[in-house]
Amino acid sequence: MTKKFYQQSIPERLETLAQKTGLSAEEVAAYQAEGGLSLEMADHMIENVVGLYSLPLGIAQNFVINGREVLIPMVIEEPSVVASVSFMAKLARNGGGFEAGMSSQEMIGQLQVLDLEDPRKAAETVLTHKTELLQAASDFHPSLIKYGGGPRDLQVHVLEETPIGSFLVIHLCVDVRDAMGANLINSMLEFLAAPVEELVGGRVHLRILSNLADRRLAWARARFTCQDLAFGEYSGEQVRDGILEAWAFAEADPYRAATHNKGIMNGIDAVVLATANDWRAVEAGAHAYAARSGLYRSLSTWSKESNGDLLGFIELPMALGIVGGATQTHPSAKTNLKLMGVKSSAELGGIIASVGLAQNLAALRALATEGIQRGHMNLHARQIALSAGAKPEQLDALAAQLAAEKNINVARALEILGQWNGSIK
Ligand code: MEV
Repeated sequence: MTKKFYQQSIPERLETLAQKTGLSAEEVAAYQAEGGLSLEMADHMIENVVGLYSLPLGIAQNFVINGREVLIPMVIEEPSVVASVSFMAKLARNGGGFEAGMSSQEMIGQLQVLDLEDPRKAAETVLTHKTELLQAASDFHPSLIKYGGGPRDLQVHVLEETPIGSFLVIHLCVDVRDAMGANLINSMLEFLAAPVEELVGGRVHLRILSNLADRRLAWARARFTCQDLAFGEYSGEQVRDGILEAWAFAEADPYRAATHNKGIMNGIDAVVLATANDWRAVEAGAHAYAARSGLYRSLSTWSKESNGDLLGFIELPMALGIVGGATQTHPSAKTNLKLMGVKSSAELGGIIASVGLAQNLAALRALATEGIQRGHMNLHARQIALSAGAKPEQLDALAAQLAAEKNINVARALEILGQWNGSIK
């Protein structure tokens, strides 16, 4: 019988990946280099480099997204995330898998215009000259236009009663295509500052992108049958209704919503990191979007279909690139993009939103039933067994005994090992 992916050794897993995806020996080798990155390359990436810092890279299984099977690389230090999203993806398959996509690839850049006599009048002047300003921004970046992107809109906001009085803010919305877009937007904004000052007077102060990328929203939805949600002593209806009750808590209470969304970000950050994207940007966008109504809420929505199925939906800003930055220079990130077979940032955004939804379901399912400690305890027991010096062949048995005894500590692990190894008669 063929072994499941999780039962294979690391070399066997690499072999399976190469067979399933057509990754070359060189690409697979990127996974084995220290942290997937050479010291020399790292020294060119940031300042004062003294070494590399590694994290585990695991491959989530069972995802079908928009009808396509996708293997998903996840970089994360927290146990059970990769296993639980893989299991939820398996359940989602029976409901047709995940449907996912993105609203557009538009990023927003902001110009803060100060020292204006009449900010409202200046706002009107900007709008009157919108076409010329957008044209100037387009002319500044002809290669973006060649790829089908470019400036799409210019909006004005007058902020009243701030600590420095009222001022004008101009939003430049740019379709950045497959780039993350930060450099592109920031240089376009710096270029536009002079024409704007010429037009309205005043002084352009900040020229910077916004991480609240609410014109670049990734979404995913999936359906789960009641039958698939049942496990152990819990019926499908019990699990489904427990999940709906847990979600209602996050919708109504920011203290719970913060933890609920943290679980979602367990899945999302792990893939953002695996593709060498800027996870701080994605985090900032996610939390600002969660608070858009004035109350910090859940990023996901769970509901019951008329036939009793559970329906999940998630939507959040997703500023990601598959070109530029480290995405194409970090060897493991390059291999990871190839592993997923993504052809655009939009496709990557949909995949990542699906992982976030799967992770959210895994957490809610556990919390609404047996609690999360049971799963965590088994992993904790393995870690204790490891630190007590269990040999690889003793690891599973020792962890199982510690968990069964509900006495998970190094002293007990040493005692059991001593008995097994014959040092305690
Ligand atoms: C732990 O990393 C994440 C959870 O706390 C998420 C949640 O509570 O929904 C389990």
